[in-house]
Amino acid sequence: MNNDKVFINNNFVDKNAANISVFDRGFLFADGIYEVIPVCGDIPYFINHHLERLQKNLGIIEIDYNVEYDYWANIINNLIKYNGKNRGIYIQITRGADIDNLRTHAPNKDLKPTAIAFSLPEKEFGHSLNNTGISAITHEDIRWQLCHVKSVSLLANALLSKRAYENSAAETILIKNNYITEGTSSNIYIVKNNEIMTPVLNNEILPGITRKILLDIALKENYIVKYSKITIDDLYNADEVWISGQIKELQPVTKIDDKIISDGKPGPLWKKMSALYIETIKSNL
Ligand code: PDD
Repeated sequence: MNNDKVFINNNFVDKNAANISVFDRGFLFADGIYEVIPVCGDIPYFINHHLERLQKNLGIIEIDYNVEYDYWANIINNLIKYNGKNRGIYIQITRGADIDNLRTHAPNKDLKPTAIAFSLPEKEFGHSLNNTGISAITHEDIRWQLCHVKSVSLLANALLSKRAYENSAAETILIKNNYITEGTSSNIYIVKNNEIMTPVLNNEILPGITRKILLDIALKENYIVKYSKITIDDLYNADEVWISGQIKELQPVTKIDDKIISDGKPGPLWKKMSALYIETIKSNL
């Protein structure tokens, strides 16, 4: 990753030459939106889903930036060409740098948005199929009211993820008003008596693209999917617990806090669903 190229404001530059202004509002206020585009080999997928969500979220926080499919598809493919295969592409658009007013909470009008993109570390496509189960901890969801917006304001997510790693776990499952919301960077599912349950979409969880594709597959396979309130006891007593994300794919959670989930092994429905998810992507490349 030493000689990576980074895209910044219409240019591809060496990673060590990729600089932004100290007055960039993304840097000072996390005033921006991001997306992570998954890649299989040298083929990015679900680009349209991601660029649509990027455009929608820029609108919600009132950043005036037009996301053009061809423009960004070209950037994504060039970064794959420059930096190599099986590396997700991180895209971030901020409100820009206010050189005149330096730092005012209320953004001044007509700032020029800052657009950057770079390649994430390599992660083999389909890696989740070999997953033998991950550990998670639980914690109060201390985030804000716009969790449905994929904003760069991720300090709470980062601190709660740090807590997981400090406890030799891979994810922190968040709880608000006694019910599960999601992971710090994943959506959550439990299986009970062969029924799949996941929290309903609202401002407390990110409308994950993996979640959407997975639930479409589950419904096509005639599984019962329930959008329900899940308590921590439901979690501990589930037959299976899964987390999902575009880079994580679908992973089985076999230990939460000090509780072993079911027999401590990835469940049969996870095996089926994770294989179907990977197959669905491959067949649409
Ligand atoms: N995160 N919930 C949160 C808080 C997330 O950050 C993510 C993904 C998800 C899953 O969304 P999707 O299926 O669209 O990836 C749910 C990205 C991958 C990240 O921060 O790296």
